Amino acid sequence: MTGLVERNIATLRGVQQDIDRILIDRNRIAERIEDLAAEIRGDLDLLAEDVEVVLVPILTGSIIFLADLIRHLPQKIRIEVTTSSSYVGKATKSSGDPILGGLPDDLAGKHVLIVDDILDSGTTIRRVRREIERRRPRSVHACVLVRKMIASAIETPCEYIGFDIPDEFVVGYGLDYDGYYRNLPDIGVPKKEAL
Ligand code: IMP
Ligand code: MG
Repeated sequence: MTGLVERNIATLRGVQQDIDRILIDRNRIAERIEDLAAEIRGDLDLLAEDVEVVLVPILTGSIIFLADLIRHLPQKIRIEVTTSSSYVGKATKSSGDPILGGLPDDLAGKHVLIVDDILDSGTTIRRVRREIERRRPRSVHACVLVRKMIASAIETPCEYIGFDIPDEFVVGYGLDYDGYYRNLPDIGVPKKEAL
């Protein structure tokens, strides 16, 4: 038991060591998510009561954001996951067309909220929204925790945005590099030598 605890601490220290600087710390993230949830909660209250609300998180990056966000939403909601990967392996730039996993089929007539970690080129959100719209939902909205301040991201329709950040590669709070750093509780810029 002690050995396992020690190993876990060593792993966490390893993650922190590779970070050059923290861009958004865990307290700011928590505060902003409360505000964002209040906005979504208010909008959901305005929707027809007899219409189902389905959250569609895009895995894997959105898992931590989703977990924190939904605990501030008191309404009856369902979660139907989808997957997407646009960064293949050790990449810090989108590979272009994202590879989408399966989407739920029964979205017709429902209110759908797409949830993702970050808006970068915008290809992922655009693709997922298009695919969802083909399933004839009552409405589709999108929510991201972070948006990069670049034209392609700003021009991508997205109703709920947590933070705008400079055009830098970031990790933590669900965001990864080559599958790592998702467990970092803050959002930070990795050191060059870690990439
Ligand atoms: P987009 O399709 O270019 O908007 O990219 C969205 C996806 O790329 C996100 O869901 C992330 O998984 C990934 N991504 C974009 N920028 C970053 C970053 O700075 N760090 C980690 N992952 C990123
Ligand atoms: Mg992602």
